[in-house]
Amino acid sequence: MRHKICLFLLLLSSMVAKADDGYRLWLKYDLIKNASVRAQYLPFGQYIAYSSTDPVVQTAARELQTGLQGLLGKSIRLQGTASAVPGGISLELTTTPQPNLGSEGYTITTQNTRVKILANTPSGLLYGTFALLRKIQTATPVSKIPETSVPRVQLRMLNHWDNTNGSIERGYAGASLWKWYELPETIDPRYRDYARANASIGINAVVLNNVNASARFISREYLLKVKAIADVFKPYGIKVYLSVNFAAPRILGKLKNSDPLEPAVRQWWVDKASEIYGIMPDFGGFLVKANSEGEPGPQDFGRTHADGANMLAEALAPFKGIVIWRAFVYKADPKGDRFKAAYEEFKNLDGTFLPNVVVQVKNGPIDFQPREPFSPLFGAMPKTPLAMEFQITQEYLGFSTNLVYLAPLFKECLDSDTYAKGAGSTVAKVIDGSLHQYPISVMAGVANTGSDRNWCGHLMSQSNWYAFGRLAWDHQLSSSAIADEWIKMTLTQDASAVKTILAMMERSREVYVDFTTPLGLHHIMGQGIHFGPEPWLERSARPDWTSIYYHRADSIGLGFDRGVNGSNALSLYHPEAIKQWSQVDACPLPYLLWFHHVPWGKKLSTGRSLWDELCTRYYTGSTAVSTMQQEWAGLKGKMDAEIHADVLGRLGAQQREALWWRDACVLYFQQYSKMSIPAPFTPPSRSLEEIKELVRMYQFR
Ligand code: GCU
Repeated sequence: MRHKICLFLLLLSSMVAKADDGYRLWLKYDLIKNASVRAQYLPFGQYIAYSSTDPVVQTAARELQTGLQGLLGKSIRLQGTASAVPGGISLELTTTPQPNLGSEGYTITTQNTRVKILANTPSGLLYGTFALLRKIQTATPVSKIPETSVPRVQLRMLNHWDNTNGSIERGYAGASLWKWYELPETIDPRYRDYARANASIGINAVVLNNVNASARFISREYLLKVKAIADVFKPYGIKVYLSVNFAAPRILGKLKNSDPLEPAVRQWWVDKASEIYGIMPDFGGFLVKANSEGEPGPQDFGRTHADGANMLAEALAPFKGIVIWRAFVYKADPKGDRFKAAYEEFKNLDGTFLPNVVVQVKNGPIDFQPREPFSPLFGAMPKTPLAMEFQITQEYLGFSTNLVYLAPLFKECLDSDTYAKGAGSTVAKVIDGSLHQYPISVMAGVANTGSDRNWCGHLMSQSNWYAFGRLAWDHQLSSSAIADEWIKMTLTQDASAVKTILAMMERSREVYVDFTTPLGLHHIMGQGIHFGPEPWLERSARPDWTSIYYHRADSIGLGFDRGVNGSNALSLYHPEAIKQWSQVDACPLPYLLWFHHVPWGKKLSTGRSLWDELCTRYYTGSTAVSTMQQEWAGLKGKMDAEIHADVLGRLGAQQREALWWRDACVLYFQQYSKMSIPAPFTPPSRSLEEIKELVRMYQFR
C-alpha cells in the first residue's frame, strides 16, 4: 500500500505543470512522457543493488534512485546485493582491478532485465551511474545502453574567479556561490547541488577562488571554511584547490619578502602546506597567477617562474599536492607583440619544473577572444605538462545576454594541429598527455556559475558548463552530439524543436564572431568591462589594452602583420602550422587579420574585397541574430514557458547589441577605408558619435 501511495504521489508531482526556473539544470528527471519509451526501461526498475559503504558509492546509488524514480514514475528500493528477482541495476566494484577502466572509467552491461555498472573505484561507479541516467533521459534504445568509457584527461577542473566579498571577476550570473561570512557553520544546500551537477559531467576538481587571489584564502580562518565546502564535494568525487597569492609569506606571515630562494620563505610554505593538509588531507593543490597584470611573483626578486613554482611544488609534494602555474603573462611593450609573450617567457623553462608542476595555458595567445589561433605553447613544451585553460564565462562573448554555444570554440582549439611530432599532433593530444607522455593531464574552464537561480544567467549558457565537462571527459565527442544531449535533458524532446535549437546552437558562435570580430579581428571590445564595441580605443594604461594596438586600421588596410615583415609571431609555430597562415592569399579567412595587414580593396576568396567582406559579415551576423530570435519565438509551447520567455528576452538584448557592434565597426573602419557600405546593405541610420555615447553608458569609467 505504501508503495502505491508513493507511486501515486510521484506521478502526481510530475503531472502538475509548474514553471521551470532552470535551477535543476540538465538533471531534471521528470517522468518520461512517452509511454513506450518509458516501458523499455521499466523492467530495470525493481531495485538498485550495491554493497559498498563508500560515500561516493552511496551518492551514486542515491542519485540513481532519485533519477530513475522520477523518470520511470515508480519507487525503487535500494538493497545490499542483486537479488534472484530479475529486473534491477547493480553497482559493482571490481574484485581484481581491470586495467582498461583506469581509476575513473566504467562499464555498463545489460543482460535481459539486469544492468550492471562495473568500475575499479567508487568514482567510476558514480560516473557510470550518471552515464546510465543520461542515456535514459535522452531516450537511448536499450541496445545502445552498454558502453565502456574512461576519461581522457585526469583533472577536469573548474576555476572559479570568486572573491572573499562575494563578487566574481567576470561573472555574469549573480554573486559567488560561496558564502564566506556564513561558513563553516552554515552549509548552503546549493553546494551539494553544484557538486551533483559537476559530478554528472565528470568534473572532479574545483578551484574555489579568483586567480587574482586574496592571501586570506590560506589563512586558518578561511581554510576551515574551505574545508566545509570540500566535505560537501567529497562524496561527489570532487577535490578542492585554491588560488594562492605569491606574496602570502609577506602578507600573512609578516616575513620581509616572498623571495622563493629565501629559506624563511620556503619554510613558510612548507609549514603552510602541512597546516592545509592537516585540515584537509584530500586537498588538491595550488593555482597561481604570478607576475601577471600586477600580481606578485618570483620575478619581483629576480627569480624565474620555475623558481617560484618549484618552491611551492616542494612544499606540496609530501602530500601529493600539485602546483598549477599559469602562463598568462605579458609585459607592457609598445613595440612588442603580446601574442609572443607567454611563449617567450615559458618556452625556455621547459624541463626545469618539478614533476608535480603543471603549466596552465589559455587556449589562445591573447585572452579568450571569440576566435583565436591556438597558443603556440601547445606542442612547444614536451617536458612540462601543459594544462588547457578555457573560459566558460562569456567575458568576451557577450556576458549573459548572448546565446553563444562554446563547444565549437573548444573543439576548434582541441582539434588544431600543432605538428609538434608531425601531422596529427593535435592540441587535444598535448592536453591529454598522450603526445608527450605527460604524467599529469588537466583541462580547466573558468566557471560561468553564480547565485542566479538558473546558475548561469542565460539559460542557454548552462550548455557551456555541460559541454566543457563532457569534452574534458572525452574531447572526441562532437559538439553537436553534446548539444543534442543537453537540449533533450534540459529543454525539450520534441524532435523538430531539438533540430531547430541544435542548429541555432551550432552556428551561434560563428554568428557572434561575424557581428563582433569577423575575419580575424580581435580585442576591439569595450575597455575594462569587455562589453560592447570600442574599436576607437586609442589610449589606456597599457598599449596592449587598446584596440588600435590590435586592429591596426590605416588608410592602406586592416589587420596585424605577424609575418616576417611584421612581429614575426608566426615563427613561434611549427613550419607546417606556419604554412597554413603565412600567405595572405591562402590564409583561411577566420584567421586573416590575426596574421596579415590586408589592403581594403584586396579581393578575397569569397570574390569580395576586404571592405565588402567585412561589411557583409557585420550585416549578415546581426541579421542572423534576428533570425535566431524568430526561430526561438516559434518554439513557444515546445518547452517550459518561463524558460522560453527568458531566452527570448535575452535574444532581444543580443539583437540590440549586435546592431551596436555592426554600426560601430562599419562606421569606425569606414573612416579609414573611405569606401561606401556595399549593396544590398543600408548604411547605419545613426552616427558613430551616437553609438559611442550608447557604449559609454555601460563603461565603468
Ligand atoms: C583577463 C581578465 C581578467 C583576468 C585575467 C586572467 O585579462 O580580463 O579579469 O584576471 O584575464 O586570466 O588572469
